[in-house]
Amino acid sequence: MTTDFTFQSREEKKSYVERMFGQIAKRYDFFNHFLSLGFDYSWRRRAIEILRDRLAIPHKTTPPPPPTPLHSAGGGVRVLDIACGTGDLAFEALAQMPQAEVTGTDITEPMLVLFRKKAEEKGLQATAVRGDVEALQFADNSFDGVTIGFGTRNFTDLNVAFREIHRVLRPGGVFVNLELAKPRVFPMKQLYNFYFNMLLPVVGTVFSRHNTAYKYLPDSLRKFPDLEALGKIMEEAGFKQVQWETRTAGIVAIHSGLK
Ligand SMILES: C[S@@+](CC[C@H](N)C(=O)[O-])C[C@H]1O[C@@H](n2cnc3c(N)ncnc32)[C@H](O)[C@@H]1O
Repeated sequence: MTTDFTFQSREEKKSYVERMFGQIAKRYDFFNHFLSLGFDYSWRRRAIEILRDRLAIPHKTTPPPPPTPLHSAGGGVRVLDIACGTGDLAFEALAQMPQAEVTGTDITEPMLVLFRKKAEEKGLQATAVRGDVEALQFADNSFDGVTIGFGTRNFTDLNVAFREIHRVLRPGGVFVNLELAKPRVFPMKQLYNFYFNMLLPVVGTVFSRHNTAYKYLPDSLRKFPDLEALGKIMEEAGFKQVQWETRTAGIVAIHSGLK
């Protein structure tokens, strides 16, 4: 059931990814929650908690520190959510930091259309602009935090992408990357391999009515760097104090680092 997606060039992969997400955009949210059995909510929540921790923005339950702009529930904090898709990670950032200024960016316009629609329905202030992580249209040092949820697997050049992220973060700014990972221990490793390589391509294809999207997903995961290698690429792009944690028996990993 494994399918090898060999792209001839970076442009070919980029245009496949953009077209594919454009085609599944309307069904994306449903599948996201369904195929992750709803775990994706807690993974996104944890990713934003890490962003807050590393930016030293306290949680609602901790006693309030002396007021500074940074400490008023994210007041003054500028967050860029890259590969924002339909917005779930950006909206989680706003849920935890209602005063933050959140911008989403993504190469797939139909995903951004849904982002804007959902933001309006939820009464949230968040901007969504079309953009490619490998050539961000933002000035140097313009964000306190950059987040990515399930986007990095789809990028064509992680070195270029991470250097761009480093460029747009201000010194001391925080990058948080939430991505699928590969469980390493029995029995999760075996269950996961069965799920991703055998079950998902069939169930995903039938329900999404897209021929390749759910074959591309396990393929992109197979080719993705492991936890240590991803941390190394972040360091090579200039990030300091790079660390990561895994969740749900190693199904996802959250890497973070400071500029
Ligand atoms: C799996 S979705 C993740 C959406 C959202 N972050 C979430 O947590 O559900 C991956 C997104 O990455 C976007 N993407 C892929 N390559 C990109 C690139 N080079 N620059 C910006 N976005 C990209 C796709 O268009 C897609 O919306």
